[in-house]
Amino acid sequence: MIRDRFARPLGSLRVSVTDRCNLRCRYCMPEAEYVWLPKSSLLTFEEIARLTGVFAGLGVTKVRLTGGEPLLRHELPALVSMLRAEPRLADLALTTNGVLLERFAAALNAAGLGRVTVSLDTLHPERMQEFARSGRHADVLAGIAAARGAGFERVKLNTVVVRGFNDDEIADLVAFGERHGAEVRFIEYMDVGGATRWSRDQVVSRAEILERLGARFGPITPVPDRDHPAAPAERFRLASGTTFGIIASVTAPFCASCDRSRLTADGTWFLCLYAAKGIDLRGPLRAGASDADLEALIRETWQGRADRGAEERLGVRERGVLYPIEALRADPRREMHTRGG
Ligand code: GTP
Ligand code: 5AD
Ligand code: SF4
Repeated sequence: MIRDRFARPLGSLRVSVTDRCNLRCRYCMPEAEYVWLPKSSLLTFEEIARLTGVFAGLGVTKVRLTGGEPLLRHELPALVSMLRAEPRLADLALTTNGVLLERFAAALNAAGLGRVTVSLDTLHPERMQEFARSGRHADVLAGIAAARGAGFERVKLNTVVVRGFNDDEIADLVAFGERHGAEVRFIEYMDVGGATRWSRDQVVSRAEILERLGARFGPITPVPDRDHPAAPAERFRLASGTTFGIIASVTAPFCASCDRSRLTADGTWFLCLYAAKGIDLRGPLRAGASDADLEALIRETWQGRADRGAEERLGVRERGVLYPIEALRADPRREMHTRGG
């Protein structure tokens, strides 16, 4: 195991398999046009599996496949099988918007995927049309059902709460999760790269979310999660026994326990969601670096890590959009959809 300058281990790797997406969620991709990563720069499955193996050798036990929308990458179940063959990975998960999940759920489960998280921001199809420019709400619901049906025991739902859009649905979403055997996690709207419409007043805080749920469901008790001290979500329980989570990245950042890093689809390794620059791993990989060379590069880089992006943002007085559009066009790796959340 290796530790960074704040003694945080490198435990979890988020692997983005494509920067493309079939939705245009307002909190992530509100613009009309994007600069995409060149196709030739995308890591092959063999390259992803090799890098993941090197990370596993340094102590990574959790891998989460992300996008863009990861199910847009052809043959994703084949990558899952390749990663499943790495015995040191104890946890293999996927974050998806669910649009294509019905088609792939069974194959992903058969390939050895362990867990699925689906984004669900609203229960109203017409809101999704406006908010994500998509008419495929029914497909997302079918995807959630298919994930359960395919045998994934713990399906989680991610809801980014945006004031004026879905903050009136918080309680209904918990009730939906309860009915469908899925745990909802409410995420505070973050000022990450790509959130070009972000403003402080649209953030619905953890405190406000708890207040609203308390008003509808009565007493809420925290669920201590000793097994996952680095998990971003705090979990809570209603009197009915139903649990839900809150990811308070804006009002209560969890950088102190952050063991995550992310690999973009073109092989750039980012140590923080907010980091301006990443480390190129594709270059050395394609230039013939050995596993030992790659391991040394990753080790040295992690040991120098001092990122605490979300905590630093707390200190910004006039907090607004992180990057202007021109800065995102100049380097699309600054985008949340390229970094994979
Ligand atoms: P598990 O706890 O393993 O289920 O995964 P997760 O919660 O990390 O996965 P998921 O992709 O569902 O992440 C949920 C959301 O939390 C992301 O989409 C981000 O909005 C936010 N998030 C994830 N990782 C980080 C992080 O390192 N820092 C911050 N500030 N936010 C994060
Ligand atoms: N704030 C919070 N979460 C975000 N995501 C994307 N953009 C933002 C943002 N601005 C999350 C989505 C999805 C994950 C991949 O990234 O909820 O679950
Ligand atoms: Fe980790 Fe950076 Fe997120 Fe803080 S902001 S939790 S350091 S990724």
